[in-house]
Amino acid sequence: MPDIAYLNGRFMPLEQASVSIEDRGVQFGDGVYEVIRTYGGKPFELEAHLRRLDRSAKAIALANPHELREWVEIVNEAIRQAAYPESKIYIQITRGVAPRDHAFPTGVRPTTILTLREMRPLDPSLQGSGVAVITMEDVRWGRCDIKSINLLPNVLARQRAWDAGAFEALFVRDGVVTEGAVSNVMMVSRRRLATAAEGPTILSGVTRQLILALARRDGMALEERPVRLEELRRADEVFLTGTTLEVLPVIRVDGRPVGSGRPGPTATHLLSLFRQLTV
Ligand code: PDD
Repeated sequence: MPDIAYLNGRFMPLEQASVSIEDRGVQFGDGVYEVIRTYGGKPFELEAHLRRLDRSAKAIALANPHELREWVEIVNEAIRQAAYPESKIYIQITRGVAPRDHAFPTGVRPTTILTLREMRPLDPSLQGSGVAVITMEDVRWGRCDIKSINLLPNVLARQRAWDAGAFEALFVRDGVVTEGAVSNVMMVSRRRLATAAEGPTILSGVTRQLILALARRDGMALEERPVRLEELRRADEVFLTGTTLEVLPVIRVDGRPVGSGRPGPTATHLLSLFRQLTV
């Protein structure tokens, strides 16, 4: 079965889908997106992703072309057509096609894109071994809560991490760790879980919310507050959360070991609780 695309109301093989070079997504990054995966062939936390898509669209004054119920049908139809064991679904809405001019065009319909590819899960040995991260200055804009397709700082950060032999880059703003280039970050210190609070400096991950709910239900002490880089460096545990990463222990920050230098018990426990949600 081919990879599937849905473009402005039509399903097609992915390689047949293309957009105009005057699409505002291409020219301005004027759009929003979501990434969703399946477990057991079913889209995981689909409604949470679709609600966030709607919030992101509203935040940039972009009309969401579909109601939640329609989106659910589109996603499920793409999954059905591709028939992969597990799928990774990308949704993008841009402000549409118009001659290049910064201000919004009038009477233009948004470009609605969905692509579906086979989900290739993260190498599970990474969750067992943990990963290294680097830190860098958070030079992003002031609305990181919007899942905007403007990802240049994230792209540059992730590349810098890979070039350094690390898995992820953590952004630091005024000494405070905000999030990763593609993930949220949490730390455990003296048995307390701490992570950045929701707000304009982070994208509040669907996975982040689930992990916090699981930790709370498990009776863990947790704090949503600014986490300073010095604290993170001294933490007993650090881990990343994200749709494709699930819970991923961090064992080195800027070349220095975190805690024991091995994945810690909290990350391991939370990953096992998370896995129970996915079966
Ligand atoms: N990224 N923060 C940022 C900057 C992200 O890009 C992501 C996810 C997250 C985690 O969000 P969630 O748990 O909802 O996946 C946090 C996606 C997967 C991406 O851009 O590919």
